[in-house]
Amino acid sequence: MRPSLGFDILSAMLWIPGPTYVRPSILESLTQPPIGHRSAEMVEIIERLDPHLALAFGLEDGDWQVAATTSSATGLMEASLIGAGERILCVVGGAFGKRWATIAKDLGKDVQILQVPAGEVVNDMLLAETLDMDGPFDALTLVVNETSTGVYTDPFPIARVLQAFPDTLFLADVVSAIAGTAISLERNCIDFALAGINKALALPPGIAVCGVSEAFMDRAREQSNRGFYLDPIRIVEGHAKRKTPTTPCITLYRALAEQLEDISAGVQLPSDFAAEPGAPAWQARFDVHTAMQTRTLEWAAGHGLEPFPVPAGLSSTVSCIRAGHVDVPSLISGLKERGHEIGNGYGELKNQTFRIGHMGDHTPEQLEELLTAADEVLAATASA
Ligand SMILES: Cc1ncc(COP(=O)(O)O)c(C=O)c1O
Repeated sequence: MRPSLGFDILSAMLWIPGPTYVRPSILESLTQPPIGHRSAEMVEIIERLDPHLALAFGLEDGDWQVAATTSSATGLMEASLIGAGERILCVVGGAFGKRWATIAKDLGKDVQILQVPAGEVVNDMLLAETLDMDGPFDALTLVVNETSTGVYTDPFPIARVLQAFPDTLFLADVVSAIAGTAISLERNCIDFALAGINKALALPPGIAVCGVSEAFMDRAREQSNRGFYLDPIRIVEGHAKRKTPTTPCITLYRALAEQLEDISAGVQLPSDFAAEPGAPAWQARFDVHTAMQTRTLEWAAGHGLEPFPVPAGLSSTVSCIRAGHVDVPSLISGLKERGHEIGNGYGELKNQTFRIGHMGDHTPEQLEELLTAADEVLAATASA
């Protein structure tokens, strides 16, 4: 269903794995004029974020705090490394794991890569062995939902391994997981979790959010030469004081506050997923994502297509599907003609896989429209 704002805002419904579809009411809120970033109104907007970000990051109480900052997710990938120390072990199973390792190298860190075959999840025994034989490491980086391959890695087994290495901070990229999948920083002992807002939070890009442990903050305070813009201490303490270190993207902060409140109120939930406000509404949002994942994979199986990830690594926000007999460029262009845009495979997986980002404020009903359109395109190409 197309939003009507009185002007043509969309050429196609976005099902790429981010940025994704943004609801009309959110788009409208973005058209409000800016306010002073040191004003009482701005303080109030920043204050509105925290209780809902706590739900997004699965925080109840304890030694964690949340923050928002004006950058894309990569800014916080860099900030996390600036605060973490010198020896970094990077789990790399796809493009974004590799990006984190590249940033670490570019920052002059001593980086070791634990390569994971594309489509697989990291082997926790191998991880334990690497930490033991090649450590000590100051931090471990893990992309929980590797958007390039559609692999979801459960952080819990990693957290269990890290229990034996208490000085190794756990840094987690939850960019395409947040607001689509439960992420409990406390249960998973994650010291720094970061995300953008243009995936399952369903907003335009421009702000990044994080959940940060006290252990991370203590470590970061010990680091010298932290720079300014990406200094994690300035970011987190500035947020806590409601005084961002630099001019924030005010319009997006406002939209983020509205979107988080709507998610906590369950505003966007389909009627059969209706839930009480608060944590149950977030859980229901995760359940909608799981339902869309299940339906997408059923649809794929109906066409003889298989997911790229191993069964233990299926993501509930991004389905990366092996192309098999499907000509990916034709599928993408045929869908575009019908008003939907999906993603090709990433990098070397281009034309060998395609990706459907069933995330954010998409509904199972909208997904049916996409899959029906995909059926039409596949039938048309088969008979051509
Ligand atoms: C898992 C993951 N991490 C990090 C990023 C980087 O985000 P950005 O390019 O918005 O900084 C992305 C972008 O798609 C991503 O999917």
